[in-house]
Amino acid sequence: MNVSIKEEVGNTYSDNDQFNNSKNSNEFIIEIEGLEKSFDGFKAVDGISLKVRKGELFSLLGPNGAGKSTTIRMLTTVLKPTNGDAIINNISLINDKNKIKPLIGVCPQDNVIFEALTAEDNVQFVGQMHGMDRVENELRTKALLEKMNIAGREKAAKTFSGGMKRRLNLVMSLIHQPQILFLDEPSAGLDPQARRLVWEFIKELKKTGMTIILTTHDMVEADALSDHIAIMDHGKIIAMGTLNELKKGSNNGNILDFSFYSNEELIKTKNKLEEIDNVKEIKELENNKLVISFTGGIKTFKQEILSWLDSFKTLHFREDSLEDIFLKLTGRGLRDN
Ligand SMILES: Nc1ncnc2c1ncn2[C@@H]1O[C@H](COP(=O)(O)OP(=O)(O)O)[C@@H](O)[C@H]1O
Ligand SMILES: [Mg+2]
Repeated sequence: MNVSIKEEVGNTYSDNDQFNNSKNSNEFIIEIEGLEKSFDGFKAVDGISLKVRKGELFSLLGPNGAGKSTTIRMLTTVLKPTNGDAIINNISLINDKNKIKPLIGVCPQDNVIFEALTAEDNVQFVGQMHGMDRVENELRTKALLEKMNIAGREKAAKTFSGGMKRRLNLVMSLIHQPQILFLDEPSAGLDPQARRLVWEFIKELKKTGMTIILTTHDMVEADALSDHIAIMDHGKIIAMGTLNELKKGSNNGNILDFSFYSNEELIKTKNKLEEIDNVKEIKELENNKLVISFTGGIKTFKQEILSWLDSFKTLHFREDSLEDIFLKLTGRGLRDN
C-alpha cells in the first residue's frame, strides 16, 4: 500500500548505467551532467542529468513550466547554463559551443520564420546559411515541403495558418540534415490530422538515423514516438526510462477512477480499499475523487468491490498510462498547471 513510486522508478536511472541493458550502450551522443539554469535565483532547470543514445528519440515530458524549453535552449546554445555541462558528440557545451552549432537543428516552441518570404524561400534561406549546395538545397526543400503538405505555395508565410507555419518551421529546422534535431513541442497547436502527419514524419526521420530530442506535455505523443522518456517537473527529472520501464516502476497496474457525492462516502470506500491486497496505491484528489492502482485482472477486482460497494457517483476502469505515472509522482495531472 502507498508504495513510493518515485523511489522505485528512481532506481532505473539513479546510477550511471542508465541504459546498460541496451545495445550500443556506449554510443551516447548527448551526456548531460548536472545542468542547471537560474533566472534571478529561480531554478527553472534544477540540475538534470541524462544520456541520449545515437539514433534514438528521447522525450522530455512534463507540464507547462517544467523547464523543458529552458533545457532545449541551453542544449542548443541559446542560453548559457548556470551550472553543469552537456557533452554533445564529444564536445563540451560550456567550452566549445560554436562547434556544436553545425551538428544540430532546432524547431523552437515559438515559430521563427520570415513572414514576408514564401515557404520555399524560408527553407532555402536556412539551407544557405548552413552552406548547403544550391541544387541539393532546392531539391530537399521541395521534397520536405511536399511531405508536410505545404509545397508549391507562392504566397508569403504571413498568409499561412498556425498549423502551416508550424510545419514550415519543422522543415526549416532540418533542411541541413543535422545529426541531432531538437523539437520543442513540435505538434503544439496542430489539428489531429496535421499532428498525425508530423508524427509519421518524425518516425521517418528516426529511420534515417537522426537523433531526436523532443519536448511535449502530451503523453500520447510521448508514448507514440519515444524510445526513452524523461518526465520533468519543477526543473527536475522525476522519472526516466522506456515506456515499459516507467510503467513497471509504477507497479504496472490497472487504474480505477472513483468519484463520490460526499467525502463521507469517499472515506468509507477508501477504508475498505485499504484492506485489499491487490490495491497498490490510493490517491485522493480534489472534488471527492479517488484514483486507485491495483494489480491482477480488472474483472476480478470489479467483482470484489461491487460485492460491498454502497454508493458512488462514477467508477471507471482503465490501463495505467503515462498520465497516471505523472499523477502518482506529483499528485497532479499533466494538464493541471
Ligand atoms: N527568460 C526567463 N526569465 C525568467 N523566467 C523564465 C525564463 N524562461 C523561462 N522561465 C521560467 O522558467 C520556468 C520553466 O520554463 P520553461 O522552460 O519554458 O518550461 P516548459 O517549456 O516546460 O513549459 C517557468 O516557470 C518559466 O516561467
Ligand atoms: Mg516549453
